[in-house]
Amino acid sequence: MKTEYRERRKSEPLSMRHLLTVADLKSAEIDRIFAITEDLKTKFEDGLREALLPGRVMALLFEKPSLRTRVSFEAGMINLGGSSLFLGGDVGFGARESVADFGRVLSEYVDVIVVRAYRHQTAVDLAGYSSCSVINGLTDLAHPCQALADLYTLKEHVGPLQGSKLAYVGDGNNVARSLAEGCGKTGIEFVMATPEGYRFDDSFVEFLKKEVPALKMTVTSDPAEAVRGAAAVYTDVWTSMGQEDESKKRRKVFAPYQINAKLMAEAPGDALFMHCLPAHRGEEVTDEVIDGPQSVVVQQAANRLHVQKGILAWILGAQG
Ligand code: CP
Ligand code: NVA
Repeated sequence: MKTEYRERRKSEPLSMRHLLTVADLKSAEIDRIFAITEDLKTKFEDGLREALLPGRVMALLFEKPSLRTRVSFEAGMINLGGSSLFLGGDVGFGARESVADFGRVLSEYVDVIVVRAYRHQTAVDLAGYSSCSVINGLTDLAHPCQALADLYTLKEHVGPLQGSKLAYVGDGNNVARSLAEGCGKTGIEFVMATPEGYRFDDSFVEFLKKEVPALKMTVTSDPAEAVRGAAAVYTDVWTSMGQEDESKKRRKVFAPYQINAKLMAEAPGDALFMHCLPAHRGEEVTDEVIDGPQSVVVQQAANRLHVQKGILAWILGAQG
């Protein structure tokens, strides 16, 4: 089957979409991205690299380090017949000129921009001034491409997502926010075990109520309670990029939230262990769990490639 696909032309600005948060997507659009992903992944595994995006150019504008996001987007675009430009510090983003001028100019050269920025507002501003699609490759607020790959991975293991339960144990950070949005959009119950002071702030809770009203979310301080009945137990680092000066304090606060064999024993025996990586082994997760039979962290990372391809084909096809 050839993937349905229609290229967006520069002359079609009204059909242009950005992907800055999972909440930007309708549930049906997530289904559509996953359907394209599944088709492309099956072909990839059969040795086929369907060139859906010949001549298309993607810019990766990164203020922070990255292995998975950078390489999966670059490799994915090459698989799709397009090419990519990695733009690190040397282009002077945020230093040589305004974000507005930067976005207006860069988007004249490329078809899509993936931005990894310290401040979410930087990505919002860039999207606001760009004449091409902008995809969030991680900000302090959100990591939508990660959450989409995680939900896709979960779906591969448990089948239809509706009605399953994801337990997130740890910091209420960018990854947690995107997972909460994604769970709401796909009918997964989201249970979060997070110490007070590190939970979603009131404004984000209000945002969820308004933008993702279907989300069923519970917040607790008890990791054991959170993981009971969960299809997957998810954690992320306690100290995200940019928070390094808080790491000593965070190690102390989050110590009771470590995912270890004792905590996994409270979850169903077939519960998956999930982590976006990179992991701080010995902090949020023990070697025994992350290297154990329930861990799907490498599949999650591998699916970044396939889901980024689904996102790129969808966003450049602008199929609403
Ligand atoms: N999970 C993730 O986004 O990894 P990188 O920071 O290596 O891109
Ligand atoms: N929460 C982490 C995710 C890294 C992929 C961070 O922002 O550093």
